[in-house]
Amino acid sequence: MKRFAVFGDPIAHSLSPRIHSAFSKKTNIPLTYTAIHAPAATFEDQLAEFNRDGGIGANITLPLKSLVVPMCAELSDFAQRIGAVNTLSRRLDNHWRGDNTDGPGLIEDLVQRHHINLYGRRVLILGAGGAARAAAFALLETNIESLVISNRTPARAAALADALADPERVMTNTVADFRNEHAFDVVIDATSAGHSGAHHKLPAHLIAPNTVCYHLSYGKAARNFIAFARQAGATRVFDGLGMLVEQAAEAFAIWNDVRPETDAIYNELRAEAPLDASD
Ligand code: ATR
Repeated sequence: MKRFAVFGDPIAHSLSPRIHSAFSKKTNIPLTYTAIHAPAATFEDQLAEFNRDGGIGANITLPLKSLVVPMCAELSDFAQRIGAVNTLSRRLDNHWRGDNTDGPGLIEDLVQRHHINLYGRRVLILGAGGAARAAAFALLETNIESLVISNRTPARAAALADALADPERVMTNTVADFRNEHAFDVVIDATSAGHSGAHHKLPAHLIAPNTVCYHLSYGKAARNFIAFARQAGATRVFDGLGMLVEQAAEAFAIWNDVRPETDAIYNELRAEAPLDASD
């Protein structure tokens, strides 16, 4: 039986084992997929043990996505550019290849599930951490018109803009600069503010009824932003549950050469965690 796992800290509430088990049933590919609690200090040893025990692929989640990069003997171009890996595949000589399916998962969810046309769009990203970085690189691979990055700490936004190396399309902005700006086509919240019950302060005039508002997280972490976007009048508001399912499908395709159908498990998870849940 092919053996897979997800490593992270915390990991207890990860939906990945459930998603991959659904994919396994859908595609008739037998596999095991477990969640492994891996604090940063012991992760490298745990990964080596997983390799020795026959693990052939793994997902890597917070806070290990950058830490795992030097443990890979080979990296995809995308993982190399963003400096983060969320998918490991064991090669024949037992070394790890690192991919990053977070960015492609976001684009797949926006374009295929939610039918968002990104062509010529003005996009605003809130945040400049690891999640924002993956989203920004992936969005610039599409035909959006421009990308504005706004972050609580402006220096990090500037550093991300430099790394993106696309000065024609990429700008940074502070909240004060937004006074004269009109509504964006797409606003993506890539901050971790929601985890502490806060959210990035954003003037409501940047959101029009047809502005697509998307939070990269799901559940409680996305809730304040979802409520804010709705209050500002947005009608197309999404969280990152679909992105989670799509990044998993991309990883499954790397490991098994088959991209599973994702709607059934997405709908199942969505029914359990409605976008506007208030608990
Ligand atoms: P991740 O890997 O999830 O992106 P990260 O790299 O720690 O996590 O980045 C978190 C992002 O959320 C950063 O952009 C952070 O802003 P700073 O660079 O100023 O720290 C942003 N963030 C976290 N809490 C926030 C808050 N209360 N308000 C606004 N932005 C916040």
